[in-house]
This record gives sequence, structure tokens and C-alpha cells, in this order.
Amino acid sequence: MAVPIRVAVSGAAGQISYSLLFRIASGEIFGADRPVHLHMLEIPQVMDKLEGVAMELTDCAFPTLAEIKMFDNADEAFDGINQAFLVGSRPRGPGMERAELIKVNGPIFVGQGKALNRAADDVRCMVVGNPANTNCLIAMNNSDVPNDRFSAMMRLDENRAKSQLAAKAGVPVADVSNATIWGNHSNNQYPDFENAKIDGKPAAEVINDEAWLRDTFIPTVQERGAAVIKARGASSAASAASAALDHVNSLITPTPAGDWFSASVCSNGEYDVDPGLMFGFPLTSTGNGDWKVVEGLPMSDWARGKFEASLNELRTEREVVKDLL
Ligand code: NAD
Ligand code: LMR
Repeated sequence: MAVPIRVAVSGAAGQISYSLLFRIASGEIFGADRPVHLHMLEIPQVMDKLEGVAMELTDCAFPTLAEIKMFDNADEAFDGINQAFLVGSRPRGPGMERAELIKVNGPIFVGQGKALNRAADDVRCMVVGNPANTNCLIAMNNSDVPNDRFSAMMRLDENRAKSQLAAKAGVPVADVSNATIWGNHSNNQYPDFENAKIDGKPAAEVINDEAWLRDTFIPTVQERGAAVIKARGASSAASAASAALDHVNSLITPTPAGDWFSASVCSNGEYDVDPGLMFGFPLTSTGNGDWKVVEGLPMSDWARGKFEASLNELRTEREVVKDLL
């Protein structure tokens, strides 16, 4: 068996974790020969419910699941971990925007950022809980873990964008590549169709319908989370868990030549984004948990306007939480 991995999941009794934990435990993401030690973190009020999740994990008899531990405090939960999935936080309801969650969810990431100092030297932390970019910014600023170990999820948006483009073009989703979600995981994100490709050709040429790309594709992807909430009465869960696994998989697998993936990471000033801001970029990885922003992608003035709107929204969110940074 390979070297074991310790994986912490916060919000472990919640609906995203109800999909995420089982797929992590099954060996799907870290390898069929790699023992997984699960550190499940919850608030004290739901530890009974978490016991039930632990029972079900046990009942799956996953050969890769070496240990299940339950915690109601982050300091213990993050001790010695190699990977953190920070999911635990309140979801929005119908009619709300994700940014409205900052005041209630932001403070969670102060303590959890500090608790990450107890993790293993190689720890990586990805944030799902909304508003994901700014929660990640808070965790990163409260932690001694290097900034480049933190990322927030844009992958659900990328997957949504790819599926919409594939359906419109009438091709399998695997034919869509180079999809970028710039900026914030919000309804101001910019899903970039100008640089996306379908079967290696520019997506805009293949689809050949600029009005659809601007007026249907972009709002559909931007508003998909709200559409799921309206239809389901609860926010996306299985698709969010799947995207979280795709996100980590893209960081631990070499990026195929010529392609990239989207995640929100700490800007080093690429594309004139304020250094230190968590921003959705196109990335490549060598597969060691590292990432590099793909630079020099062209953008029309129209696209840059969308990009700037998302950037300005993230600046506003940063201002709202400045006391937590
Ligand atoms: P949920 O309410 O079902 O579960 C959240 C869990 O977090 C609850 O069990 C709650 O007890 C727990 N929790 C709350 N505070 C905690 C803390 N301080 N420490 C540990 N656990 C804590 O919600 P969900 O549907 O699983 O969604 C979780 C979050 O993920 C929400 O903020 C939601 O908006 C967000 N989300 C993000 C994306 C994305 O693409 N980034 C996608 C879907 C959902
Ligand atoms: C999503 O995009 O589905 C999640 O961020 C949940 C939400 O609030 O929309």
C-alpha cells in the first residue's frame, strides 16, 4: 500500500459531504492503494448525525478507508492532515446571493485558518463553503501555511460551462477543453467562451452564435446555482462534491498538454489582479499539488469588462471582511 493520506472534511454531516466523504473513502481520488484516514469536522450540535455518517462509511467496507475520526473542533481535526476540504458553512436559500453569507460564514474561516497550522508540512486546503473565494482569503490570511497551498472552488462553474457548450454544439462533454471561469464564484463570474475550445477548435467558431454565447450561455452558468436551489429547494450537493474531487484531482495530476483547469488561487498580479486576492484563473499543474496561472490569454474589451466586474466584486467582499484578515 502507498503512504496513507489524512483528509479533513468540515461540514461532514452536511449534504455535500454526504456525497464527498464516500467518494474520498472509496479510493477514487487519492488512489486505490492509498489508505485514507478521514478526519470529519462538525459543530457540536450535530455530532449525533455525524455518528450516522460514520456508521454508513463503515458499512461500505471500503478497503482504502483506514480510519474514521470525528471532531467538534478544528484544532484537533486538522492535526497532521495532508488535505483539507473546507465545506462546513451555511448555504444560501432562494432569493439570496452568496455574498450575503459573508457575515455568518466568514468568521468560521478565521479559526480554521489558524488550525491549519497544525497540519502536515505538505498540507493543501480547498474551500467550498460560500462565498468560497473570500472564505478562502480569510483562511489563508489567518494561517502560516504558504498562500499557494490554498484554493477555492470554481470547478462546478467550469463543469457547468463545459456541459452547456457541449450540449449546444451537440458533442460529448469530453470534447470541450480550455474552459476558464474568471473571478468570483458568484453571479458576476465570467465564463470565458473566447478561449474555450471544442474538439481543439475555438468554441465560438464551432457554435457560431455570438448572441447565444453572450446572452444565454453566460447567464445560464452564472445563475446555475440559483436555478438548482429553485428547483431542488436546496443548494447543489452531488455536483458540488464531484467538482471538489475534480478540483483536487486537477492539482494532483499533470495537466494535459495545451489544456488548463479553473480554480481560485492567490493572485501574484497576473492579468493585473490585485496581488493577494483569491481569484478564479486558468491553471496548470505538474501534479504535485502545485499550480501556475496560464498567462497571456487574449480577451476582448467586452470580456475584460466582465472580468473587471468580478474583480471589483471580490475587492468589495475583501473590504467587508477586512477585520477578519
Ligand atoms: P449543509 O447545510 O447541508 O451542510 C453544512 C454543514 O456545515 C452543516 O452540517 C453544518 O453543521 C456544518 N458547519 C457549520 N459551521 C461549521 C463549522 N464552523 N465547522 C464545521 N462544520 C460546520 O450545506 P451544504 O449544502 O453541504 O453546503 C455547504 C456550503 O457549500 C454552503 O456554504 C454552500 O453554499 C457551499 N457550496 C459551494 C459550492 C461551490 O461551488 N463553491 C457549491 C455548492 C455549495
Ligand atoms: C452553487 O453554485 O451551486 C453553489 O454555490 C450553491 C449556491 O448557493 O448557488
